[in-house]
Amino acid sequence: MSAHVPSDKSLLEVQDLKIYYPIHAGVFLRHVGDVKAVDDISFDIRQGETLGLVGESGCGKTTVGKGIMRLVDITAGTMDFTRRNGETVDLVPLSRGEMRPIRAEIQMIYQDPYSSLNPRWSVGDIIAEPMRVHQPKLTLAERDEKVAWLLEKVGLTGEQAHRYPHEFSGGQRQRVGIARALSTNPRLVISDEPVSALDVSIQAQVINLMQDLQEEFGLTYLFIAHDLSVVEHISHRIAVMYLGNIVELGPAQRVYENALHPYSQALLSAVPLPDPSLKRPDRIALEGEVPSPLAKPSGCPFRTRCPLAEPSCAEEVPKLQELETDHFVACPIVARTG
Ligand SMILES: Nc1ncnc2c1ncn2[C@@H]1O[C@H](COP(=O)(O)OP(=O)(O)OP(=O)(O)O)[C@@H](O)[C@H]1O
Ligand SMILES: [Mg+2]
Repeated sequence: MSAHVPSDKSLLEVQDLKIYYPIHAGVFLRHVGDVKAVDDISFDIRQGETLGLVGESGCGKTTVGKGIMRLVDITAGTMDFTRRNGETVDLVPLSRGEMRPIRAEIQMIYQDPYSSLNPRWSVGDIIAEPMRVHQPKLTLAERDEKVAWLLEKVGLTGEQAHRYPHEFSGGQRQRVGIARALSTNPRLVISDEPVSALDVSIQAQVINLMQDLQEEFGLTYLFIAHDLSVVEHISHRIAVMYLGNIVELGPAQRVYENALHPYSQALLSAVPLPDPSLKRPDRIALEGEVPSPLAKPSGCPFRTRCPLAEPSCAEEVPKLQELETDHFVACPIVARTG
């Protein structure tokens, strides 16, 4: 669990967000349906916290990150972001031009440090690129100085600015990706599986670096991952996604030690608990495949694989309910039976 204590003020408040990818088919490319990648989710990210976002492949995690960055079209919903100057703006209706200054405050660290850095650019140019866009008034000398400072902040050296990505290891490249993300002094950093392409031995170093930088610069992270043990270590709160919906959201330790939603329990049942006196419920084996987001089941998206499912689960999509302080679960059966 992260030692750093975040504030309870929202930096980003997402309400009823839907992101559907339209599917076109046939000679006339008629609109034949939608991939409901994000299907009506609400959550907030609080100033200075790390919100972990977990779930199986295809459940919509990257789409949430791209939605916040406005890299994909938003189907519905609002995303209220509080800027450095204190102003709160809904990102959804903003034009590209209106979004540009805000982009400096929201940056992304990508999964693959091998493909996300331009191999023909020096590391210094890669790190300076966002500054060229967002702080065009900086002189060359000021930019060089900031690049050297950023390289040192991520555990590299200023002289390495002249080197090229292929001269660095995977972990070092991800440090370069982090330096690039920090070059515009962002408030919110979305990191999409930032360590999953790295050797396990390197993962902890990069996570520790991210935690140190969070404390030093008061950063807020949306940390996307498959690996629950990684998320538990860095997150203050965890949101669990299933097929475009958030099924559980709560303090990291509570979700990790006492997951309430049957899907979260299944995801977690493979992860050992740090304290051996605690015991997880017996392992829940998930039956069947994740249904396609093109043809989601009616009602609760998890009901086709859920050990608790009842006929009424087909009727409506369950809403998140607060079952203990700040711990929300979208399952009326769990809510009823405790
Ligand atoms: N541009 C697109 N057009 C159509 N469907 C898409 C597009 N991008 C993603 N999808 C679909 O949307 C759903 C959510 O994808 P997304 O990449 O957000 O999931 P994810 O949780 O990040 O998965 P992973 O863990 O594999 O990275 C998937 O079914 C995916 O196939
Ligand atoms: Mg993804």
